[in-house]
Amino acid sequence: MIELVDLRYVHLGSSSAVDASKWAQEIYGLEEVAQENGRIYLRGDDRDHNICYYDGDPKDNTVGIEVLDYDALDQAARHLEANGVKVTWGDDEGAIVRRCMKYLTFSDPTGNKFDLVVRPFASGRRYFPSRDAGVHWFNHIGLKTKDAPRDEKFWCTLFNFTANDWIGDAPLMSFDKVHHRFALFPTNEAGVQHINFQVKETDDLMRSSYFFNDRQIRIVFGPGRHATSGARFLYFEGPDGMIYEYSCGVRMIEPEEEWKPRQFPFTPDSFCVWGSKPDIPEFKD
Ligand SMILES: [Fe+2]
Repeated sequence: MIELVDLRYVHLGSSSAVDASKWAQEIYGLEEVAQENGRIYLRGDDRDHNICYYDGDPKDNTVGIEVLDYDALDQAARHLEANGVKVTWGDDEGAIVRRCMKYLTFSDPTGNKFDLVVRPFASGRRYFPSRDAGVHWFNHIGLKTKDAPRDEKFWCTLFNFTANDWIGDAPLMSFDKVHHRFALFPTNEAGVQHINFQVKETDDLMRSSYFFNDRQIRIVFGPGRHATSGARFLYFEGPDGMIYEYSCGVRMIEPEEEWKPRQFPFTPDSFCVWGSKPDIPEFKD
């Protein structure tokens, strides 16, 4: 079992990294941390970075997840290889790009790309948002899956993930007390399906919904409230068609709580208890 300790970042190919960074600052409310290594690094919390854009194929996405130390990384490599998962060790140059001490790469059965990192960089400076959106924490991602039960088994047997709820076949899974860190949504390709940052309160979501309407930013779902995690949410379209989300009040499941995962049907009511209808392909029947 590979013990993950954190979800760290998403690196995203972009048709224009400069334009994507401008959007992420002016619209999403992130802080640009650095432009180096041919990449642009941004963040929405006090860690080094959570999002990184580079000029490249927008379908080329890599998710950074963290293990505790070097021994854990060695053990993870052995465990993945023993289970038939191809592992590629990272080099020094790759570690500089990822802003961590050491890493390896692998893919899930759908073909989603992951960096397993050790000691990703912290930051000596606190997060200073570029817009008052209320963003304060990089929280979770949606991932595309070609076979949700297969990929759920991959994450829940090789890693310390457990499914806390399902909507249809889509598992909402976590390795810590956050209700979900990965949510797997069935489709026919690999890639990051959406990116979530937590905002502080419902007022932030409502303020942003009016801010987006004024600027012709396409809201694709919400404002609403998830039946599963209880989070209030707002989904909208960013550069290269990527879906970004704000949410607040995501359910925390404490270890002592005897949480029983629930099966929701794949219907709009399971995604939103307020009645908002998604305009997101993976959330529709
Ligand atoms: Fe989400």
